Amino acid sequence: MTAQIIDGNALSKQLRADVALRAAALYARGITPGLAVVLVGDSPASQVYVRNKIKACEDNGLHSVLEKYAATLSEADLLARVYALNNDPAIHGILVQLPLPAHIDAQKVIEAISPAKDVDGFHVASAGALMVGQPGFWPCTPYGCMKMLASIGYDLRGKHAVVIGRSNIVGKPMALMLLQKNATVTICHSATKDLKAMTLQADVIVAAVGKCNVLTADMVKPGAVVIDVGMNRNAEGKLCGDVDFDGVKEVAGYITPVPGGVGPMTITMLLINTLEAAERL
Ligand code: GUN
Repeated sequence: MTAQIIDGNALSKQLRADVALRAAALYARGITPGLAVVLVGDSPASQVYVRNKIKACEDNGLHSVLEKYAATLSEADLLARVYALNNDPAIHGILVQLPLPAHIDAQKVIEAISPAKDVDGFHVASAGALMVGQPGFWPCTPYGCMKMLASIGYDLRGKHAVVIGRSNIVGKPMALMLLQKNATVTICHSATKDLKAMTLQADVIVAAVGKCNVLTADMVKPGAVVIDVGMNRNAEGKLCGDVDFDGVKEVAGYITPVPGGVGPMTITMLLINTLEAAERL
């Protein structure tokens, strides 16, 4: 059996066409949806991520502002910038790229962002809204994974979903979104005793660990849907996900590739959250 590929680039293209239409409808109301991206320091990986986010805004009719600061920026100065952006009427979404330098308390900065502009969905108000099923911004990566499942018409009701990883950005919100669609959800993590015993029971597996080849073919039930959130480099410096793609694609029913899977979907959901922030005005 060879799995069907869930193509994040193709799905993003479809969804971004709709973004452009929604942006046009906002212009007609005199609103230009705007995203501010704040980057502190010069991490090469963060610079690439941020550049891709800004380019996606430009390509799809959203206004974007990139604010770059030296790694020595103080926490107080960063907080002051966030407060200024909260009060800037041209800005509907604020994203502070993580990780931040060690001298800055990232959670404090996230909590300084107005929940109405929290398009990353990392604020405790956003996390709480997701937890209790109230409207709020959903973190872009797990939200993108949900769109990928919807794109194959997958009904999660009563299915067993196993999430590997428990980060605030992916694992935990992913589990809540799957639960909201009536899946039975198991969260596995570094202290899980027998990961393979868990994943072999799964109808859906979301791997969000940040390590190559955490999920191999022997750990997957035939026909399962496998979503790979990983974006790692192996010992040879080659890009790889968390899933052994070549092996797992022979067992799974559906699989997302790396690159070209969850990555572009994360940016697409950021555009959608930003539009939504502007539409709520
Ligand atoms: N760093 C890695 N992924 C993300 C993300 O989705 N948002 C932010 N703000 N920082 C990140």
